[in-house]
Amino acid sequence: MNEVAILTSPNSPLTLRILPIPRPSAYELLIKVSLVGINAIEAKIAKRSTPPPPSYPFIPGSSYTGTISAVGSQVTKYQIGDRVLISKRFSTQGNAYGAYQRYVLVTAEEKMVVRLPEGMNNDEQAALVALIMNASCVPGLFSGRLGLRKPGDEVQEGEEREKILIYGGSSSFGRLAVQYLRCAGYDVVTTSSPQHMGTVCELSGSEGNVIDHTLPPDQIIADIRARGPYDVVVDMVSTLSTIPITSRVLEAQGGGKLFATQPAFSLENLPEGVERVFEPWSDSLYEEGNEGLMEWVVGTYLPFGMEKGWMRLKER
Ligand SMILES: NC(=O)c1ccc[n+]([C@@H]2O[C@H](COP(=O)([O-])OP(=O)(O)OC[C@H]3O[C@@H](n4cnc5c(N)ncnc54)[C@H](OP(=O)(O)O)[C@@H]3O)[C@@H](O)[C@H]2O)c1
Repeated sequence: MNEVAILTSPNSPLTLRILPIPRPSAYELLIKVSLVGINAIEAKIAKRSTPPPPSYPFIPGSSYTGTISAVGSQVTKYQIGDRVLISKRFSTQGNAYGAYQRYVLVTAEEKMVVRLPEGMNNDEQAALVALIMNASCVPGLFSGRLGLRKPGDEVQEGEEREKILIYGGSSSFGRLAVQYLRCAGYDVVTTSSPQHMGTVCELSGSEGNVIDHTLPPDQIIADIRARGPYDVVVDMVSTLSTIPITSRVLEAQGGGKLFATQPAFSLENLPEGVERVFEPWSDSLYEEGNEGLMEWVVGTYLPFGMEKGWMRLKER
């Protein structure tokens, strides 16, 4: 029996249905799902059909763990009974691949299939499901797209310590980015509300480099600028309240690329010389030339990142 949670139309609630169990084709795996993550993007799709709008009826769900219950005839790398953690590629289409169902398909090209380490308990698996989408975007953005070091890479002698602004260090994506960059040997300046200041200071390794994002915007900009200039500026929140701040920081240092986590939903008057860049940040991992990075993400960073101290779960 395949229990499915489905969106039947834009702005509809999730509806429960019973559908046939999908059959894997030659290069696919059938997964019996045990844990599903609920990502911000799924909430946005459910509430605003955002973006790009899916075709309905639509089965959401991108991050999950489960057990392989059938393999296609051409699959050699996996076996029935393997326990895996999966993050669906952003561009993958088709309801058979949405994780809000008991049995879901994965194609062989879907490279983000992580074998769960032996002995990983339910809480640790749940932690990974909760953060795998953001966690795969972190190496995708910083190492895949920007070519920065990853944790464990040696800092070469004479290599300058680059300074990176992570606006929104108390968000889930932001925290993972702060930890990743710090473990890779970069200087990170970031922001937090007073509520999460202690944790973010600890993650960034410096009290002086975490700015209170509840201060008036001019004060935030002045505080950020006083710690700059920045080699990379990332706006982890990317809303109408943060883009004016991060874009003005960039403008003040002569302009450049503003890396954003969301597209612009309405007109944003960016200062001259500032280019807003957005994409699904895990995409770079699938590109030619980044095969080794993808292998590291799937074989080391995701399964062992918590153990190695490169990622820590957001406390609730
Ligand atoms: N492009 C991609 O590849 C990609 C991938 C994953 C996620 N995303 C997007 O990235 C965004 C962040 O995702 P997330 O999972 O990290 O979200 P999240 O954990 O829910 O982020 C919420 C946190 O952001 C902080 N925040 C909110 N408003 C802020 C502001 N005006 N200034 C500074 N900080 C503020 C708050 O921290 P305090 O509690 O300290 O106030 C809040 O707790 C979402 O829009 C998500 O859809 C994009």
